Amino acid sequence: MWAEIKDKKAFEKVNKNQSVASTHRNIITQQSIGASVLSDRRRTMRPASFTATSLILYLFLFLLRRGTLTTGEITPLRRGFYAGVCPEAEQIVRETMRRAMTREARSGASVMRLQFHDCFVNGCDGSLLLDDTPTMIGEKLALSNINSLRSFEVIDEVKEALEKACPGVVSCADIIIMAARDAVVLSGGPNWEVKLGRKDSLSASQEASDNIMPSPRSNATFLINLFHKFNLSITDLVALSGSHSIGMGRCFSIVFRLYNQSGTGRPDPHMDPRFRFKLNRLCPVSGDGNITGRLDATPAKFDNRYFKDLRRQRGFLNSDQTLFSDDARTMAVVKRYSVDQKAFFADFVEGMVKLGDLQIDQPGEIRRNCRIVNNAPREETREAVS
Ligand code: HEM
Ligand SMILES: *[C@@H]1O[C@H](CO)[C@@H](O)[C@H](O)[C@H]1NC(C)=O
Ligand SMILES: *[C@@H]1O[C@H](CO)[C@@H](O)[C@H](O)[C@H]1NC(C)=O
Ligand SMILES: *[C@@H]1O[C@H](CO)[C@@H](O)[C@H](O)[C@H]1NC(C)=O
Ligand SMILES: *[C@@H]1O[C@H](CO)[C@@H](O)[C@H](O)[C@H]1NC(C)=O
Repeated sequence: MWAEIKDKKAFEKVNKNQSVASTHRNIITQQSIGASVLSDRRRTMRPASFTATSLILYLFLFLLRRGTLTTGEITPLRRGFYAGVCPEAEQIVRETMRRAMTREARSGASVMRLQFHDCFVNGCDGSLLLDDTPTMIGEKLALSNINSLRSFEVIDEVKEALEKACPGVVSCADIIIMAARDAVVLSGGPNWEVKLGRKDSLSASQEASDNIMPSPRSNATFLINLFHKFNLSITDLVALSGSHSIGMGRCFSIVFRLYNQSGTGRPDPHMDPRFRFKLNRLCPVSGDGNITGRLDATPAKFDNRYFKDLRRQRGFLNSDQTLFSDDARTMAVVKRYSVDQKAFFADFVEGMVKLGDLQIDQPGEIRRNCRIVNNAPREETREAVS
């Protein structure tokens, strides 16, 4: 089990190296007076009228964006950011997500997960979406992402539709935020207004992701400390983990707890024996690590079933079950959500907004293609290198 060992070592390194995350700043957005004037003016404008005013406004916003590209200043995020410049943006994202999830229900979960993996690593900046280049190893091959993150093509589809409607206006970082919200809504979860106005990064770092993203083996103490570095509370941690109400996980992520929890040679004791029996059949000792199991009993429905399952010791990941079994503070929150779905939904929304607020001071742009920075070397150059 070479891959297994390599995986363990790397994750141990992650657990020691926690300083990277502290460079993050949780920017709580405050509208500047100028920005609020702009948004008020836009709200009063008819979307379809191409008046001189709207042209000037558009040019102004365009220049503003170019300006922040060079200064690397953090743009304040706000609701309805695209109302004036691309009024149909949120509708386009919602409809594209609806089509994708009709084709494959799981794509909702897969897209929603992208928000977590994008926002924790250098803020919500679309860095996760960048393909590797000859000179840059991005985040897609990072420990937590390789053979695991999926549905990037759904983001491409959204971007394509948006580029048709409003070329060069909507950032890939914002697409992730809108699409994640829509995935939750379309799975039966809560709806909320998202703050927008993010820029797309000019680079991505595999190492940054490796150093930050938590392992499925993480215990409650580790997760509490990690989320705290991002100004996310114990309540936020438990509510956001409730995202595992939808989607699937691989055998690769759980075999250690089925057969050798913490090197004991024994399974995780916090597991219902009948549930373990089912998982043993799904994930035999030397079986295919890519086989997937459901993260809760209702993986296509966003509900509080995940928390009910944790109380019955039927959590899929160690990082799930630990929230009920290993810490009194997280356990109290799990118990509350298991009997109060409204409370879960309200806290989940709050957590997603906070997660979406993570930004760092760096140059940005509106990518034309979410996989490539705008001034990427020409195709010929790349072919020449590879
Ligand atoms: C608390 C720390 C977290 C850990 C350790 C964790 C870990 C994982 C792991 C290991 C998987 C399965 C991946 C695989 O086996 O290939 C997974 C799936 C998933 N995660 Fe998390 N996660 C955490 C928090 C979050 C958060 C905050 C979100 C979203 C806000 C999220 C959303 C998801 C979703 C939706 C899936 C299913 C994806 C699919 O079906 O493609 N997770 N997570
Ligand atoms: C952390 O979050 C709290 C509550 O949302 C907020 O009041 C505070 O300003 C945040 N602190 C930082 C450093 O972002
Ligand atoms: C939790 O995990 C951390 C990091 O892996 C480890 O150092 C610590 O001993 C664990 N705590 C408990 C209570 O198991
Ligand atoms: C369980 O893990 C420990 C430590 O990683 C290892 O020494 C031991 O050989 C493993 N046991 C089995 C049965 O795989
Ligand atoms: C899963 O599949 C990928 C590619 O199909 C392969 O490279 C990888 O080794 C597999 N992972 C596991 C854990 O079996």
